[in-house]
Amino acid sequence: MPAPGGGGVRPKRGIGSAPLRGRRVLVRVDFNVPLDGHGGVADDRRIAAVLPTLNHLRTSGARTILMSHLGRPGGRRDMAFTLRPVARRLGSLFGQPVPLAEDAVGLHALDAVSRLGNGDVVLLENLRFHPGEEANDPAFAVQLAQLGELFVEDAFGAVHRAHASTVGVPRRLPALAGLLLERELRALAPLVDAPERPYTVLLGGAKVADKLPFLASFLGRADRLAIGGALAFPFLRARGAELGATPAEEGVGPAVDEFLHRAEGSSTQVVLPTDLVVERPGVAEARTEPADRLSSDAVARDIGPASREAFARALDGARTVFWNGPLGLAEDPRFAAGTAEVLRRVGTLPGYRVAAGGDSARVAEELGVLGAFSFVSTGGGAALELIQGLELPGLAVLPDA
Ligand code: 3PG
Repeated sequence: MPAPGGGGVRPKRGIGSAPLRGRRVLVRVDFNVPLDGHGGVADDRRIAAVLPTLNHLRTSGARTILMSHLGRPGGRRDMAFTLRPVARRLGSLFGQPVPLAEDAVGLHALDAVSRLGNGDVVLLENLRFHPGEEANDPAFAVQLAQLGELFVEDAFGAVHRAHASTVGVPRRLPALAGLLLERELRALAPLVDAPERPYTVLLGGAKVADKLPFLASFLGRADRLAIGGALAFPFLRARGAELGATPAEEGVGPAVDEFLHRAEGSSTQVVLPTDLVVERPGVAEARTEPADRLSSDAVARDIGPASREAFARALDGARTVFWNGPLGLAEDPRFAAGTAEVLRRVGTLPGYRVAAGGDSARVAEELGVLGAFSFVSTGGGAALELIQGLELPGLAVLPDA
């Protein structure tokens, strides 16, 4: 668990004025993208986001070596997690083919790097095929560092991990921030340092156990905190609601009680759903029920119309909005309206509106409401930890600007 940061978001030394011609530049990117199951990439946002850095390196005459993880292959060479589909998509976005070295270290990698001319780019195979990556094994970090003369961190989505490629390598090579990383830090800093008030936070998704520290970090910092999705259920239960056949998250009761107790004493208004759209066995049509007492066979799937209005009121006049996580089971059109309506409302606000986290951007895009946001982060866990005010190991290791 990263340590509390306390010092806000510090800008990092960038690649802008570094001499790059002919130099081997080892760039950590986050190409951990969803695949489509047919050998293709389902969402290329993270790949497209590093193009400014790649173009800068190409025009500066650098020899660029890209390294990334994909999924969690567990330190084994599991070809279900090969970066080949990513290399293909990167090549078509970049406008020139990008070869894939068969391994991140060793002879394959050294050979691929030796073939690079000025302005060329190669992608190394999945770092997590080696157990040394996640273990931050010094020997693995040395093998990686040997490939380059300079390290560039552009994997914003992975800077919360203390792995060989994010921490071990920058300790061994001169290190700089890439253009995507700089952009993310600039865009997210206002949420950490001095959000313009009123500041409304909208949180959804699932797994309250994972997100409780994140939620708690907004008490006293945000003016209004609206909680939807499955994330809201333990809070509703803690307030005595009967949620029918909605699955309960085990073991979170005491922490949720404590959160609600702290919330009462804080300046932050916590807004929970008052009605829920439910699904019932053998009934195709969804219906809305009061959130404090669902039918015994009902499973909650979305926030209801009254809750959407309450969330919209929580957004009223907001000068800063942060959103993470769908407010219902948005992939099912019967349960997408809560997320879609509330995010449409976000889009009408004049203030600074930021989205971050895992599938959030994809959900918003599918619902046609991604344009509601001034900035959409490529980070999942990393963005949430940064906004929480934690110090991230992959940032701490980089020199400040
Ligand atoms: C992410 O998608 O959040 C990052 O790529 C980190 O992936 P991880 O959670 O598997 O470390």
